[in-house]
Amino acid sequence: MKIAVFLGSVRQGRYARTIGEWALEQLEARNDGHTYEIVDLLEQDIDPLTAEVLPGMAQGVYEDPKTTAWSQLIAGFDGYLFVTAEHNASVPAMMKNAYDQLHIEWKNKPVGYLAYGGGGGGGAVKHWRDITERVGMINLAADAQFAFGEFFPDYVFTPGERGADMLHAVADELVDALERTAVAVDA
Ligand SMILES: Cc1cc2nc3c(=O)[nH]c(=O)nc-3n(C[C@H](O)[C@H](O)[C@H](O)COP(=O)(O)O)c2cc1C
Repeated sequence: MKIAVFLGSVRQGRYARTIGEWALEQLEARNDGHTYEIVDLLEQDIDPLTAEVLPGMAQGVYEDPKTTAWSQLIAGFDGYLFVTAEHNASVPAMMKNAYDQLHIEWKNKPVGYLAYGGGGGGGAVKHWRDITERVGMINLAADAQFAFGEFFPDYVFTPGERGADMLHAVADELVDALERTAVAVDA
């Protein structure tokens, strides 16, 4: 199955890409039979949400070709790892805008979080859990939170063994959730 590592920061000098590339390398080394791919918000062409039809009513059909392209990309994945910063105790606005454009594409699929920030990005994770639950995604018990003090000495992302353990705890649960879903669909 296919899992997206969704990078949600578009900021110049962002950490998101470094964290996402490290995560991708770790995930691919698992050799767990699943495919992992980066989806970088910076490489997507997504406008502010202005569509008249509510995403929850659209059933995956959109007037805006940019939303259609975004929908097709996201619909192609079975699960997601959100690499999320924390902005003012919540989720980054551009990432939320991209998320909000769609609905059915996310629904009933598992999502895990790799968060980072001063205190590890727990505020963003808390809000993402509410947001994704509203859309009907499957949340996991584990999440990875990288606090600046511990994981960014001298402003360099340094996950170490503890960081890798946190990532794999989330990936283990994500893969379990995917495999359970596949069994339910086949039954
Ligand atoms: C508008 C804004 C608000 C922020 N608010 C928080 C915050 O509430 N808590 C926190 O830990 N970090 C906060 N930060 C710091 C970010 O977590 C930090 O800049 C992080 O590196 C952003 O991710 P990026 O480097 O991938 O863009 C904020 C940053 C910005 C730009």
